[in-house]
Amino acid sequence: MTKPKLFIARKLRAAVEARAARDYDVVLNPEDRLFSAEELVAMCRQVDAVLPCHSERFSAEVIAQVGPRLKIIANHSVGTDHVDLVAAKAAGIVVTNTPDVLSDATAEIAMLCMLGAARRGAEGDAMIRAGQWDFWSPAFMVGRQVTGKRFGVLGMGRVGQVTAQRARGFGMEVHYHNRRRLPAHLEQGAVFHETLEGLLAVSDVLSLHCPATPENMGVINARTLALLPDRAIVVNTARGGLVDEAALIAALRSGKLFAAGLDVFQTEPGGNPDIAALPNVFLLPHIGSATEETRDAMGFRALDNLDAFFAGTAPGDRVA
Ligand code: 8YV
Repeated sequence: MTKPKLFIARKLRAAVEARAARDYDVVLNPEDRLFSAEELVAMCRQVDAVLPCHSERFSAEVIAQVGPRLKIIANHSVGTDHVDLVAAKAAGIVVTNTPDVLSDATAEIAMLCMLGAARRGAEGDAMIRAGQWDFWSPAFMVGRQVTGKRFGVLGMGRVGQVTAQRARGFGMEVHYHNRRRLPAHLEQGAVFHETLEGLLAVSDVLSLHCPATPENMGVINARTLALLPDRAIVVNTARGGLVDEAALIAALRSGKLFAAGLDVFQTEPGGNPDIAALPNVFLLPHIGSATEETRDAMGFRALDNLDAFFAGTAPGDRVA
């Protein structure tokens, strides 16, 4: 039997590519180039399946051109905001994602962002590297302690729940807002807030874990930032589009926010130079799930979904 032809859009780890090459007629991207929309269309037209990352945008225009051979978009990501799911469904293209396997790694990065922001990690690191650490006193580089503070989770899905657990490890009191209240065994004592406003009012640290759906875009803006306690900390490991960056910058400059820890930005790669110019931010280049273990697990999970699809069974992580 001929193997299905699979285009793996970005360079994945050796074990993942080896398994893919065993089971599929693979087209790889050994140079790890970011393809243009036109190139992506041209590649997809020649294959039965594509395994993209969040860096490959499957807009309605792209999806309208990729058929009729392409049957499945098996994403190497939990987020699917880079794929127009309505257009994919209408075109009869199955879409899958990779939930669960990246929750631990992303929760770790959320903690790093929180601590880096609260304890002025970037400032201290930059000072030493620049050879400018020439002074010490008890009044020097004083940050905010997170122990005993309130940790607000916006979006208590898989990543939100694991992050909440990690925050409990720092002695924080967990609060959350979610479309639906979780059952007690998942809530683990976290305080549910019916409204976003209710959550914001008690979030000494606000950590974003909701999907980048159209209704969530810009959910953190001038109005909602004003509702946070004074000198709060904002952590974003979800998607840059959730935050109005101009409003965030204003709140960081005015001192309304003590600091922010950000792994994601509206413009990626690159980030926002006006944010990078601020002293009270801790910044990372979208590496929430970038661990050896998690990259392997994401790749294998995407291949599991492809295997199920080509075996004629339902892929476990079908989103469209
Ligand atoms: C990935 C992510 O690094 O899974 C997601 O939605 O944003 C990240 O964990 C990226 O999407 C890989 O494609």
